[in-house]
Amino acid sequence: MLKFFRTDRKKETENKDISIDLNNIPRHIAIIMDGNGRWAKERNLPRAIGHKAGVEAIREVVKECSVLKVKYLTLYAFSTENWKRPKDEINALMSLLAEYLKKEFKELDYNNVIINYIGDISKLPDLCQRELIESHENTKNNTGLTLNLALNYGGRYEIARAFKLMYEDIKSGKISEDDINEHMISNYMYTRNMPDPDLIIRPSGEQRLSNFLLWQCAYSEFWYSNIKWPDFRKEHLHRAIFDYQNRDRRFGAVK
Ligand code: FPP
Repeated sequence: MLKFFRTDRKKETENKDISIDLNNIPRHIAIIMDGNGRWAKERNLPRAIGHKAGVEAIREVVKECSVLKVKYLTLYAFSTENWKRPKDEINALMSLLAEYLKKEFKELDYNNVIINYIGDISKLPDLCQRELIESHENTKNNTGLTLNLALNYGGRYEIARAFKLMYEDIKSGKISEDDINEHMISNYMYTRNMPDPDLIIRPSGEQRLSNFLLWQCAYSEFWYSNIKWPDFRKEHLHRAIFDYQNRDRRFGAVK
């Protein structure tokens, strides 16, 4: 099996016009993997085939994020609103998830990836829950890329959950009202101890956040593209990172 890692500091890409500065790689990239359904429709295929093709894009992007030494990659795989989809599409997505974890586990582990999840996975089929928990347990001591799979995840749900957990801790005396500040609220999110996303990528032409990482995206850079997720490849990731590296991030200050 091939290890993903390299040591050069500047990465030339397939596109001759761009090279990526390996000293300024976003620490946390989050992706809304959109456009699977439309990709399939364009080809007169069932939507589930679009999702299946999307898994290939996941493989490539995870691998490239490891090569580039991105520390966190969060993939929006199933939202709290996606339960409104037809049953057979939901089942197909859950099967793909279980299959992905089963098939990819060895390679991800070998390449030092920590498999993690955010969202309320208790509503997922038992097999998916088992695979997720086992994959996490078996990779949690790795030190490379953390792959966050957002499953039954919603930003508003996450914030409401944080309120409830905080309320419980105030009631039990673990914290007091005076302890509440932004840093502390972040620690009640699924992403506690992780940096906020530097870069949020949404392919497929839509330009909205769709309830993704609402608390965490305060100063994220957004990158949109018309490419549909199943066609997303490392050259698109490179372009997104290149554009990110050419933005002026001021965080509200003056330079
Ligand atoms: C959005 O496209 C995509 C999803 C809701 C699911 C994404 C899931 C995968 C790519 C595969 C399964 C996950 C893992 C982690 C193996 P859409 O269906 O809304 O596309 P559309 O807007 O064109 O209809």
